[in-house]
Amino acid sequence: MANLLTMNDLSARDIEWILDRAESIQKDKKKFRESKPILVTNLFFEPSTRTRFSFETAEKRLGFQVLNFTSETSSTTKGETLYDTVRTLEEIGTDIAVIRHKDDHYFDQLIHNNIKLNIVNAGDGSGHHPTQSLLDLLTIRQEFILFQGLTVAIIGDLRHSRVARSDAEVLTSLGCRVVFSGPKEWHNPELPGDYMPMDEAVRIADVVMMLRIQHERHQHTLDLTKEEYHQAYGLTLKRSEMMKKGSIIMHPAPVNRGVEIADELVESENSRIFKQMHNGVAIRMAVLEWALETERGEMNRGELIKEW
Ligand code: CP
Repeated sequence: MANLLTMNDLSARDIEWILDRAESIQKDKKKFRESKPILVTNLFFEPSTRTRFSFETAEKRLGFQVLNFTSETSSTTKGETLYDTVRTLEEIGTDIAVIRHKDDHYFDQLIHNNIKLNIVNAGDGSGHHPTQSLLDLLTIRQEFILFQGLTVAIIGDLRHSRVARSDAEVLTSLGCRVVFSGPKEWHNPELPGDYMPMDEAVRIADVVMMLRIQHERHQHTLDLTKEEYHQAYGLTLKRSEMMKKGSIIMHPAPVNRGVEIADELVESENSRIFKQMHNGVAIRMAVLEWALETERGEMNRGELIKEW
């Protein structure tokens, strides 16, 4: 049994196992209906479309029993803590809790206490989003096969993005060069990599990963209209023409069309944005299986880079 809270919870062997398993799930037509009677509860304290419904789809395809917790109609509105909520669900019989919460590291209050069920992090504030990271890795691996030597440009609201953090750390450890661009106000010194002007980042990247502006986490707004932001920091049609041959566009979504990315580029030939969403179900099936496994073996990421 294992928790997935950040990408650091995964060894190289774990990442390889999850990506391989997700691909074998995608290839395998067999249904997963007669699986173990595992009970999963999805607790989303923040809005979500992709993560929430792809987890629910993954759980149902695995044959798990699924409970969907709604914070607005739960006893958290009467002051119950997250710990007491999860502890209660555990006592009711939940084996795995899939949790999204606005607080960075919300899971610390759970894992350092008495909680025994598995926790899978579906996004914590501006902290981490490991299953998004894994589906991004699968999308990149399906495109380029190897990670080593790739340049990935992560562009936009770097300060408030949990995807930027999770992806930058794991991609760097797998041998990619990760570069950043976006408004200076949103640079994040915690992220490993070089900062550069937008045009340069777009020109050198094999993967241009655009980020949504996280308005819900901002204390101060930028003094720019949507169109001004698009021209200064967005992937415009003109900028997309600077991209290298064979390079791809990614975005974790939801997308603000015409703001961080031109409307026409969202489903363009080199966009993998909907492929990322497609990969989300198999990755989450593989992660749920991974969380319930006991023996996975160990291998460090250096060894993995050599193997890949
Ligand atoms: N990428 C992502 O986490 O999307 P949702 O917020 O819709 O789950």
